[in-house]
Amino acid sequence: MTRPEPSFYVTAAIDYVNGDPHLGHAYEKIGCDVLARHRRLRGDDVRFTVGSDEHSQSVERAARAAGMEPADYCTRQVDAFKTMMRAFDVEPTSFVRTSSDANRRTSETLWRALADAGHIYKDWYRAWFCPFCEQFYTEKEIVAGMCPIHQTPVEWVEEQNWFFRLSEFAEPLLDLYEREPDFVVPPPRRNEMLSVIRGGLTDISISRGFSTWGIPVPGDESQVIWVWLDALPAYLTGVGYPDGDDFARFWPADVHVVGKDITRFHSVIWPAILMAAGVPLPRKVHAHGFITLAGEKMSKSRGIFIEPMQLVDQFGSDAVRWVLLSEVPFDRDGDFSIAKFIDRYNADLANDYGNLVSRTTKMVQRYFGGRVPALAERAAIDDELRSTAARVVPVYDAAIDDLQFSEAMAAARQLVGRANKYIEQTAPWTLQRDGDARLGTVCAELLEAVRVSTMLLHPIIPRATARVAAEMGLALGGDLTDEVRSWPRLAEGAPVAVGEILFPRLDREAVLAAE
Ligand code: MSP
Repeated sequence: MTRPEPSFYVTAAIDYVNGDPHLGHAYEKIGCDVLARHRRLRGDDVRFTVGSDEHSQSVERAARAAGMEPADYCTRQVDAFKTMMRAFDVEPTSFVRTSSDANRRTSETLWRALADAGHIYKDWYRAWFCPFCEQFYTEKEIVAGMCPIHQTPVEWVEEQNWFFRLSEFAEPLLDLYEREPDFVVPPPRRNEMLSVIRGGLTDISISRGFSTWGIPVPGDESQVIWVWLDALPAYLTGVGYPDGDDFARFWPADVHVVGKDITRFHSVIWPAILMAAGVPLPRKVHAHGFITLAGEKMSKSRGIFIEPMQLVDQFGSDAVRWVLLSEVPFDRDGDFSIAKFIDRYNADLANDYGNLVSRTTKMVQRYFGGRVPALAERAAIDDELRSTAARVVPVYDAAIDDLQFSEAMAAARQLVGRANKYIEQTAPWTLQRDGDARLGTVCAELLEAVRVSTMLLHPIIPRATARVAAEMGLALGGDLTDEVRSWPRLAEGAPVAVGEILFPRLDREAVLAAE
């Protein structure tokens, strides 16, 4: 009997659709996509869920402001998010709309499980509410009648709600954090959450009576389920909770990828809800940082904004994927600007990888009629190139597994850089001029370096690498674990085509002047 492939399940945050997708949304989804693609190329069967968070007050208000019914408005916005993901080559296996029938069933099932186990009760709620945070605040927390985060007016709400006994889960959560030290990463976020839990947890209201925009509470049509309690369950819906075949195979999720602003929902409230409902816990919550633009918080209204689609149209999705993940390490905040974009693009893509591919394939074309030459006389410098690959591949794999994409990219660049240096050191053009028999070996070794770097870089820049793979007859699908660790692998005499320039150099001044 063949062993089933190992399974891997990654989720991205379920985006609010009250506005258009921005670079922060794109960044997170790209990170998840890289992880998903990498796991697939290491032989895993992968599921990757994204989705739209539709039942928030801010979505309802945005719909009314646009003169639309919330459901129609959401459908329009969902299209914008899907278009953005397609443009960035983000390929989830499931897009869960929180308003879908499947997600409604998930939320209801979870609600009933909580109710049956005695974890919810009805009580009065009196508090200030911020529709943008979807959160209640105490008198002490608001600042001159304004939300402390959004600086917009808060509203007084007084009503009967259903409550979840979060207060009973402080101990089980502390046990979890102790048992699974990597449950929340990176460490600063874990520490932050530990102090939230140690600071004392109060029960939370999980229904709303003042709105009808949402999923009705099972058995109490006067209330709708709190938006977070139909959004977090979207992760379960993505793999067919409660009884789909995929659920048994893919849950618990290997990692929930979220922004640092929503860590508490994912690493305090969500695990407590799951414990209460008797559903296994996700293995990890990875909280990434925030992108700022030229040092400032993104804000469309203040004009601090870069339209993600425009960036793709202008520079291509590979370039944006690359620059975002290298400029903003996945465990902290990072800044983005067009000037940084150009520098990074020119250094890493045009001068490094693009240049290596172009120089290598052109030499193979010119000297060997576009066929992989035979490996003959080997020298110490060849071994050095090979050993660089042998060293960087495991570093690269481990970094991606830890969602340290910028480190993985740096590892891959070491191989690319070493190969470019190898060209300078071996100077194939002089070997050719002198009729030196080493020429074939040098070009064959270079093709191997291109092959391995193309495989490594594929999850990050899928388009350019797919073109190179097609030009070299490489397969980029299936389990590449062995391929990427073997050298040499290319068959002597196999055709190698010269493609168009992958990443034309950008003229810094001209691009900046046109902005
Ligand atoms: N709907 C909630 C998530 C529910 S998950 C069950 C939400 N939506 S959001 O649209 O506001 O944010 C979606 C994701 O984008 C979040 O992980 C958030 O942290 C992330 N980002 C929002 N702005 C960002 C940046 N400026 N930079 C990086 N990521 C950012 O929260």
